[in-house]
Amino acid sequence: MESATVANLEKGLLAVFAVIVGAIFISKLKSKKLKLPPGPLAVPIFGNWLQVGDDLNHRNLGDLAKKYGEIFLLKMGQRNLVVVSSPELAKEVLHTQGVEFGSRTRNVVFDIFTGKGQDMVFTVYGEHWRKMRRIMTVPFFTNKVVQQYRFAWEDEIGRAVDDIKKRPEASTTGIVIRRRLQLVMYNIMYRMMFDRRFESEEDPLFLRLKALNGERSRLAQSFEYNYGDFIPVLRPFLRGYLKICKDVKERRLTLFKNYFVDERKKLGSTMGSNVTGDKCAIDHIFEAQDKGEINEDNVLYIVENINVAAIETTLWSMEWGIAEIVNHPEIQQKIRDELDAVVGRGVPLTEPDTVRLPYLQAVVKETLRLHMAIPLLVPHMNLHQAKLGGYDIPAESKILVNAWFLANNPEWWKNPEEFIPERFLEDEKIEASGNDFRFLPFGVGRRSCPGIILALPILSLAIGRLVQNFELLPPPGQSNVDVSEKGGQFSLHILNHSVVVAKPRA
Ligand code: HEM
Repeated sequence: MESATVANLEKGLLAVFAVIVGAIFISKLKSKKLKLPPGPLAVPIFGNWLQVGDDLNHRNLGDLAKKYGEIFLLKMGQRNLVVVSSPELAKEVLHTQGVEFGSRTRNVVFDIFTGKGQDMVFTVYGEHWRKMRRIMTVPFFTNKVVQQYRFAWEDEIGRAVDDIKKRPEASTTGIVIRRRLQLVMYNIMYRMMFDRRFESEEDPLFLRLKALNGERSRLAQSFEYNYGDFIPVLRPFLRGYLKICKDVKERRLTLFKNYFVDERKKLGSTMGSNVTGDKCAIDHIFEAQDKGEINEDNVLYIVENINVAAIETTLWSMEWGIAEIVNHPEIQQKIRDELDAVVGRGVPLTEPDTVRLPYLQAVVKETLRLHMAIPLLVPHMNLHQAKLGGYDIPAESKILVNAWFLANNPEWWKNPEEFIPERFLEDEKIEASGNDFRFLPFGVGRRSCPGIILALPILSLAIGRLVQNFELLPPPGQSNVDVSEKGGQFSLHILNHSVVVAKPRA
C-alpha cells in the first residue's frame, strides 16, 4: 500500500475515533443532568440497536420489561423509545399526564403515509388534532350513527352468511371465512363513508383497494426499515423502500379521490338539497371543508385513516375470535345456547340484542385481551421533556404502552395464555373502554380509539350471526386451527388465515 494511502486511512480512523469519544463525552454530560429510565447500556450512534435488533414486538418488549422493570428506555440510534409496562404508569401516560404524552411520533415511513401528520391518527396533540377529532365524531362516532347504520351492518353480515351457505365446500373441506368477512368490513365502512358497496369479492375496484391498503399496512408495519429510521447516516440505503412507499401513497390517495370522494361530490352537486336527507359520513366532512376548517388533503387523509384504523383492526379481531371458538367448541356451544335462549332459535341477531348477551360480550373481550390488534397502542409521544415514574423523559420520545403485556401478565391474570371468556363474567366490571388499566384494547383517554362504539357491536354481530347459523370446525384431519401471530411496529394479526369448516345448523 502506498504511504500516502496509509496516512489517509490513519487520519480517517483517527477522525472516527475522535467522533466516537466526543459522542460518548457529550452523552455522558447530557445524561448527568437527566435521570433517565433504566435500560441496556447504549453505545454511541447505534444506541441499543445492535443488542435489541429490529423486532420490537409486544412479546420481546414484555421480556425486556421483566428484566428492566415497569419503565425502561431503549436508545434506538437517534430515537428514544420508552416502554411502559404497568397499569399505574399506563394510567400516568394515558390519563393523568394525558396532555403531556398525548402526541404521536411518526417515523420516516409514517411521515409519507400521513403527509407528515395531516391526518388525525398520527398528528401531534394540538389544534389540528382537536379539529379533526371533532369533525370526525359526528359522522362516525355517535350512538345516532350506530342507529343509522346498524341495519346496513346486519344486512352485510346476513349476506355473508347466505353466501357461505351457498358454497358447498364450506361444509366439507372448509373455506377461508376471513376473505368473505373482509368484504363485509369494507362494505360496512364504505356504506357509512360513501353510501357505496362492493357486490362481490371479485369486484375490480374492491380488489384494487384491498391490494393498496394491504401494501400500505405491510410497508408501514414492517420492521425492515428501522435501521434507516434509527440511524440517519444509513438513510440513503432506504431510498428504494421510501420510493415504493411514496408510490403506494400516491396511488392510494388518487384512488380514494377519483373513485369515491369526487364521485360523491358530483352526486351532491347534482342532487342539491336532496342529498341532505340521507347524509353519509363524507357529506359531513365536505361541510367542514366548505366552511374552510380543513382542506382537500385532510379529507383524503380522513378516508385513509378510516381505511386502516377501522377495517383491518376489526377484521383481525373477528379472525382471532373465530379461530378461538373453532379451537374451543364448548365455548362456541355456550355462545349458541345463549343466543337461542335470549334471541330465539332461528331469529337473526340484531345490534340491540348484543347488550343482552353477556357471554357473547365476554368472548369478544377475551378475544381482544388475548389477541390485541394494537398491542402497543398507537405510539404516544411527549413534545417536551417530561417526568414519568420518577425519571426524566427526553422531549420527543416514543412512548409505547405495552397493553398486551398488561392484559397477559400472570401477576394480574389467572392463566393468561388460555382463552377463558368466563373471567369477564366473574369480573364483569372490566369493560373494553378502559375502566381498568390492565385491559386497554382500545387505549383510554384523549387519544383512545373513538371507533370502539362501532367495533364492539360489529364484532358481536359477526361472531354471533356465524355461531347462530353454523357449526364452526377445523378442517378435516386437523384438531384445531393455527393461532400463531405476526406482530408489526404496533399491530398484531394472525399469521395464517385459517381454513374453517362452516356446517349449517340443522
Ligand atoms: C377491534 C377494533 C379496533 C381496535 C382494537 C382499535 C384499537 C385502537 C387503539 C389501541 C388505538 C390507539 C389508542 C392510543 O393510542 O391510546 C386506536 C386509535 C384510533 N382508532 Fe381504533 N380500534 C379499532 C377499531 C376502530 C374503528 C372501527 C375505527 C373507526 C371507525 C377506529 C378509529 C380509530 C382512530 C381514528 C384512532 C386514533 C385516535 C387519535 O389518535 O386520537 N378504530 N384504535
